[in-house]
Amino acid sequence: MNKEASLEAYILQHIDPESDYLKALLRATNVKLLRPRMASGHLQGRMLKMFVEMIRPQQVLEIGTYSGYSALCLAEGLREGTMLHTFEINDEQEDFTRPWLENSPYADKIKFYIGDALELLPQLGIMFDLAFVDGDKRKYIEYYELVLAHTNAGGYILADNTLWDGHVLEEPHRTDYQTIGIKKFNDYVAKDTRVEKVILPLRDGLTIIRKL
Ligand SMILES: C[S@@+](CC[C@H](N)C(=O)[O-])C[C@H]1O[C@@H](n2cnc3c(N)ncnc32)[C@H](O)[C@@H]1O
Repeated sequence: MNKEASLEAYILQHIDPESDYLKALLRATNVKLLRPRMASGHLQGRMLKMFVEMIRPQQVLEIGTYSGYSALCLAEGLREGTMLHTFEINDEQEDFTRPWLENSPYADKIKFYIGDALELLPQLGIMFDLAFVDGDKRKYIEYYELVLAHTNAGGYILADNTLWDGHVLEEPHRTDYQTIGIKKFNDYVAKDTRVEKVILPLRDGLTIIRKL
């Protein structure tokens, strides 16, 4: 095991464990779905739950549900009477994900929408205190502007994968639209005086943005 993998193993041994339900979901994600590495996993999942506990939001938004792992972790941190709204554009994902959300202990705190968050979010008429942005990397600036307009002052946006496996340091190929999208997003947020921002080098990079 290299040092990075050993440190990750060490971290996982010294933080709260995942529930058996989340472990089973991750196993099913690996067995049944394409691109299972997209799911948040143990460390990021515990961190999302803790963010929710720290921020104590009324309304939480997620763009990009996939198998539901991060949605369940966000919902786990929510207090009674508060809600997570999570959007997944891929309708083929619904048969897998909906039962995992609905059979979980947090079913009554989760609203799961199938469709493009860019189209559906404005129709909700809800202002959020926390958003987890984890959809199409090519559209991060579009998500950002829409989410920021639907975030209360003092609210937070967490944008995932903002270091893109270190590719942000490289000159992307002209057809590598994901790396181009992430780099443009990082430059855009860095200059944005409407927000405070920090990037955590956790996993694939997580940008924490606070609306002023
Ligand atoms: C990285 S995965 C999400 C992983 C999940 N958040 C987790 O951490 O366990 C990204 C998901 O975003 C979905 N997606 C992409 N564009 C979207 C959009 N505009 N609206 C809603 N979902 C979108 C994709 O279909 C994919 O399932």
